[in-house]
Amino acid sequence: MRVIGLMSGTSYDAIEAAAADLALDGDVLHLHPIGHLSAPYPDAVRDLIAATLPPATTTTRAVCTLDTRIGQAFAAAAERALHDLCDGRADLVVSHGQTMHHWVEDGAVHGTLQLGQPAWIAEATGLPVVSDLRSRDVAAGGQGAPLVGMTDTLLLRGLPGTPAALNLGGIANITVLAPGTDPLAFDTGPANALLDAAVRHFTGGAHAYDADGRGAAAGRTRPELLRVLLADPYYRRPAPKTTGKEYFHLPYLQRALEAVLPAPRPDDVLATLTRLTAVTVADACRAHGATQLVVSGGGVRNPVLMRMIAEELPDVPLRPSHELGLPSDAKEALAFAILGFLTMHGLPGTLPSGTGARRATLLGTVTPGRSPLRLPEPAGHPPRVLRIGPRLRA
Ligand SMILES: Nc1ncnc2c1ncn2[C@@H]1O[C@H](COP(=O)(O)OP(=O)(O)O)[C@@H](O)[C@H]1O
Ligand SMILES: [Mg+2]
Repeated sequence: MRVIGLMSGTSYDAIEAAAADLALDGDVLHLHPIGHLSAPYPDAVRDLIAATLPPATTTTRAVCTLDTRIGQAFAAAAERALHDLCDGRADLVVSHGQTMHHWVEDGAVHGTLQLGQPAWIAEATGLPVVSDLRSRDVAAGGQGAPLVGMTDTLLLRGLPGTPAALNLGGIANITVLAPGTDPLAFDTGPANALLDAAVRHFTGGAHAYDADGRGAAAGRTRPELLRVLLADPYYRRPAPKTTGKEYFHLPYLQRALEAVLPAPRPDDVLATLTRLTAVTVADACRAHGATQLVVSGGGVRNPVLMRMIAEELPDVPLRPSHELGLPSDAKEALAFAILGFLTMHGLPGTLPSGTGARRATLLGTVTPGRSPLRLPEPAGHPPRVLRIGPRLRA
């Protein structure tokens, strides 16, 4: 089955589209990556998302506009992927949509909202679409995240020791696979969320992120600020746990900055926030005994962040996910392609030990394409390992 996965994370910088051929063979899920592309949001859509995210208040009219505009942007990315990557032939599109709110209270998730009306994608490509993948896990008592835990687990299985996978998006999440125990997956805290918010603030919106970590490299960590930030109870809460930008946003950072005198220089704030990500990732890895770390997400492009993580975890080798066959920019999009594929084959996409749900559920909502919906025969049992390679199967 040829599947196009579409993902935009909490950084809402771009829609990542990745295509792959997927086939089940007993315990093995074969994945042949075809290619990926990144479709930046049109400025007007990005501005609308920024103006709607917490702490902003909004209207249902704005929500309707966003659902439409994000759906259209995802549809355009899907069409590009279909034509530029797949020569016009694919079987399924899986769309994560854009998270606009992840409703967490006292550690429990009550709802999660991804916008991007899938009808636009089905209409533009003629293909069936699996979307809204998180809600079912929430309805089963789970966090609805991190859903990449399933793919990570299939990917890590077979690696020696206690391997872990880390994704550095707006938020950082890890999946840890210790021998003889169920996999764990949770958000460790902000990866780029606070850093990006600080850069936007200090540059009056001219820059969206600390390109190549240059600001952080020019600054130095302010221990008092780091201490204030690390005092957040989120870091001490046990897994399963997830968070989002409705929590780690600019006012959150500004409250922390008010507690520190004299006010730190902008570059020192960036250095401290980069160190915060490194320290909280390292703490999470140490708490669960990770012996190697497979890293993906936009944060891989920040050499200062990668250096700080390596400093905090001197005994844990870091490997970019592309070394295992999953390009670090495409990994999450491929993970969602896998989740939609599992849904179409009647297989659950979650690990209760990861999201904290009562049970593993079939994820998503299916929108038919131009032809009648035809589902494959349900698979007998779920895969245990992911094998990435050139082999193509029907
Ligand atoms: N060259 C770079 N230097 C520093 N940071 C970068 C660079 N490229 C990307 N990033 C960071 O990665 C983020 C996007 O990562 P991504 O994995 O797409 O996150 P998300 O899944 O939240 O959208 C950007 O907002 C930025 O913080
Ligand atoms: Mg992104």
